[in-house]
Amino acid sequence: MLPLVLLFLCPPLAWAAFGHVFDVREATIDSVHDALFTHSTTCREVVSSFLARIEHFNPTINAVVSLNPSALSAADRLDARIAAGNVTGALFCIPILLKDSYDVVGMSTTGGCQGLANNKPPANAPTVKALEDAGAIILGKTNLHEMALEGLTVSSLGGQTVNPYDLTRTPGGSSGGSGAAVAANFAILATGTDTVNSLRSPASANSLFSFRPTRGLISRAGVIPVSFTQDTVGAMARTPRDLAVALTVMASVGFDARDNATELPPSEVRHRDYSASLYGGTLKGLRLGLLNGFFNHTASAETTPVNNIMANMVSKLSAAGAEMVNITDPLYDALAIAKLDVQAFEYRELLDAYLAAATTATTSNDGPRPTSFSKLYSNNSNNNTNFLVIPAQYSFIKRASHSSTSDAAYLETLNRIQDLTRTLEATFATNNLDALIYPQQKNLVVKLGSPSQSGRNGILAALTGYPVVCVPAGFFSPSADDDDDDDDDAPRLASGGVPVGMEIFGRPWSEHRLLNMARHISELVPVRRMPPFANGTVESKVYDSVPSITPDLDSIPAVYPLGVF
Ligand SMILES: *[C@@H]1O[C@H](CO)[C@@H](O)[C@H](O)[C@H]1NC(C)=O
Ligand SMILES: *[C@@H]1O[C@H](CO)[C@@H](O)[C@H](O)[C@H]1NC(C)=O
Ligand SMILES: *[C@@H]1O[C@H](CO)[C@@H](O)[C@H](O)[C@H]1NC(C)=O
Ligand SMILES: *[C@@H]1O[C@H](CO)[C@@H](O)[C@H](O)[C@H]1NC(C)=O
Ligand SMILES: *[C@@H]1O[C@H](CO)[C@@H](O)[C@H](O)[C@H]1NC(C)=O
Ligand SMILES: *[C@@H]1O[C@H](CO)[C@@H](O)[C@H](O)[C@H]1NC(C)=O
Ligand SMILES: *[C@@H]1O[C@H](CO)[C@@H](O)[C@H](O)[C@H]1NC(C)=O
Repeated sequence: MLPLVLLFLCPPLAWAAFGHVFDVREATIDSVHDALFTHSTTCREVVSSFLARIEHFNPTINAVVSLNPSALSAADRLDARIAAGNVTGALFCIPILLKDSYDVVGMSTTGGCQGLANNKPPANAPTVKALEDAGAIILGKTNLHEMALEGLTVSSLGGQTVNPYDLTRTPGGSSGGSGAAVAANFAILATGTDTVNSLRSPASANSLFSFRPTRGLISRAGVIPVSFTQDTVGAMARTPRDLAVALTVMASVGFDARDNATELPPSEVRHRDYSASLYGGTLKGLRLGLLNGFFNHTASAETTPVNNIMANMVSKLSAAGAEMVNITDPLYDALAIAKLDVQAFEYRELLDAYLAAATTATTSNDGPRPTSFSKLYSNNSNNNTNFLVIPAQYSFIKRASHSSTSDAAYLETLNRIQDLTRTLEATFATNNLDALIYPQQKNLVVKLGSPSQSGRNGILAALTGYPVVCVPAGFFSPSADDDDDDDDDAPRLASGGVPVGMEIFGRPWSEHRLLNMARHISELVPVRRMPPFANGTVESKVYDSVPSITPDLDSIPAVYPLGVF
């Protein structure tokens, strides 16, 4: 650590080069705080710098769906606290974005669904309250795959979000707007949710760090639900340290009667400071299980780059003294495990409860909103186009509409998930493992217009409730590896590579150890870089009011019909 005096003598280049306007590119919590507390910038200027980037670059990737009209007044309140010498909170003046399934008073919670455009929550989600109490400034909301039900990040309200590194590909999902936005430096960090893959797929596809917490560590109240068994909330960031701070703040909610899974954490887990867990430790001597079944060994233009990047990672980890254990048990097959997915049994009941609990529109001008699953997804005579369901999702909604948690098949599946969890415990114990590792996705993140986000490996953590930290593992550079000399290379050659991420999967409540490994790996294999399309500065200005932005609905690929029911 630098002595404090050095920070004053050698201000970070980031803002020194641009006078009083803070250059937010690759900014971290610490760099924002250094600039603020040396009075080199103000909170209003920091927020303005992010707003300027969003206004300039968002039309290309369509990641942010709405901005928070109160962001600048919140910044002014924090500037007044700096002037008064009253600076507290780990996220003091840290601009963040929220997946548009988190309740925030004063903004709609849409789930990306036009039918929920008027869903105005009466209270902040407890995680949102914790983030704000720690000083975070909510800049706005990000696009998601509609209702978080797939991983392409296309929705009827937000349109299609585009991968900032490769404008021909999706950003992963379902929290793909958060991933694309943080990658493009629209905020310091962003929240997401994860029912199967949704905090890890966007991290993998956008060269970010993310965590999926152990089930029960963080309250899910006030967030549009899909599955009691599988849902988690979490965050994505550009550095392990910023991610650790986000986890500490979100987990500080602790026990929450609105989400009884929060009874589960043992007492030593409560009030953990995850940023402290980044220090010390070593990769040397760690035993890492490589899940062989979570690779696609069939060579192809989409799989070979992932396998090469993982092979490089494995050789570097081995060279650093980690012991690799090849886990070949055929049970670890993501497609087979996915048969135990229980979302369809749980979605309707949970969504009914969420929609019934939130108050209806707060003013008469807000307009109506559906108050149940069936009202949202009704077959009506008006040829309802309030929602978008890609063909692969159609059968899911249909199944969810007549499945329930009283079905015998549901209870049987829960039992089989317990069997899977016991097998997993045995794998950890017999091999004496510290963690499992595998690529988040067996192939590169899919192209725009694809039928599904195929090849992802998130299901094991989703069903067992075990924690994962996802780290950037590498970039596939088409200029080096895929020069097939046809014209469709041109946009990708300009892109500078497609990100690939790796999951580090641990036993329950081991987030502190996973983050320590992630920090070491980020130094051993430094990967993270800016997306070239948004790596320049934008003209500085200090905003008087928060601009409004309009999602680009023309971006929706024609293959996804609106309102298919
Ligand atoms: C500092 O600001 C916080 C948040 O506005 C407030 O609750 C607290 O009372 C203030 N403390 C002092 C000493 O002014
Ligand atoms: C929470 O409530 C559900 C439904 O009532 C119940 O099945 C579950 O056992 C409870 N506790 C936990 C920790 O999930
Ligand atoms: C793990 O074992 C399988 C089956 O023997 C083999 O195909 C694979 O290459 C091995 N992986 C590594 C990294 O050695
Ligand atoms: C409903 O809308 C779709 C898509 O716009 C259109 O193709 C279809 O003809 C409409 N059906 C009716 C009954 O109006
Ligand atoms: C593996 O990759 C091949 C080639 O891209 C693809 O055809 C196949 O469907 C993939 N298999 C799985 C299980 O993802
Ligand atoms: C921005 O991206 C271009 C194209 O990859 C690269 O040449 C340039 O060095 C990058 N600039 C920065 C500041 O990263
Ligand atoms: C809507 O109506 C069609 C045709 O009757 C039916 O097949 C489909 O299951 C219905 N969808 C839902 C969500 O009820």
